[in-house]
Amino acid sequence: MDVKTSLLKALVSADGEYISGGALAETLGVSRNAVWKAVKALESQGYCIESVQSKGYRLSENGNHLSAEIIKSRLNEETSANEIIVYDTVESTNDIAKKLASQGASDGTAVIADQQTAGRGRLGRAFISPTGTGIYMSVVIRPDFAVEYAPMITSASACAVAEAVEKLCGQDVNIKWVNDIYINGRKICGILTEASLGLEMKNLDYAVIGIGVNVRSVKNSFDEKLLETATSIEDETGVKADRNTLCAEILNRLAYYMKNVSNGVFLDEYRRREYLTGKQITANSGNEMIEGTAVGIDDNANLIVKLSDGEIRHLSSGEANLCRVKK
Ligand code: BTN
Repeated sequence: MDVKTSLLKALVSADGEYISGGALAETLGVSRNAVWKAVKALESQGYCIESVQSKGYRLSENGNHLSAEIIKSRLNEETSANEIIVYDTVESTNDIAKKLASQGASDGTAVIADQQTAGRGRLGRAFISPTGTGIYMSVVIRPDFAVEYAPMITSASACAVAEAVEKLCGQDVNIKWVNDIYINGRKICGILTEASLGLEMKNLDYAVIGIGVNVRSVKNSFDEKLLETATSIEDETGVKADRNTLCAEILNRLAYYMKNVSNGVFLDEYRRREYLTGKQITANSGNEMIEGTAVGIDDNANLIVKLSDGEIRHLSSGEANLCRVKK
């Protein structure tokens, strides 16, 4: 391991405490000058390192640099073995994760980027992914449940993200059926799950869960039209959440929820947070535009809608889209 990587490990392990240059030099078995050079190298990579003459060095809590090392240090026991790969800029983390999955990447592999130049959303839409503001993360899972549960992967993932965001920002977080995360009635996150069937078509070979969270303010990076519907954790709550911590919190919860897709354990949490329930909505269902009241979520995570003539419809994410609160 090179000096820079060993230094980063030591600073991460110190958990925000200062370590003197002398102690670092001894631990790493190099000169104090080599430690200093490694500090400069990490800083040029984007890490924020505080240095105080009488105390030494520590990783700053105000840094906003995505780091696999820092994310790993915040994973719990169950997720600590996950492979975490962080990029500065990619076209789409989902594309990279799918490629890795098709080459055999293991369950839990996470591809994270600071910026995407061709981020994708549902229905062929773009997901605008500017640098320094968001989390663009795609997680490979190798499900052991039958293929009919596949549509519930996104719903269970939404619970994982909502819980993690709520923990960091301290405000209520909702899930708008099927895959959007809302704060104050506005979207801060979208989820795009893409799956590949196994040869026998009974199980999924793998699925890639793509999660895009707007963390820091997007006011200067989104255009006016996008700002009508999209917002960020910071713009809604004032909290400048740490992106590394948020990645780890999401991954920790995702591991739990992915073990509980087929038993529906997530459904209570999903129902409690669901945003459309009780509201008058419009939706495209197949070729039809429907209007009615969203009355709940069924056991397959479909949206239950009561039409004005009293008919009850169960909308699946596969057939229904553009679900909106009626104005
Ligand atoms: C949506 O809102 O329709 C879903 C958005 C999903 C965006 C994420 S960001 C990480 C991953 N990579 C992509 O290209 N898309 C997903």
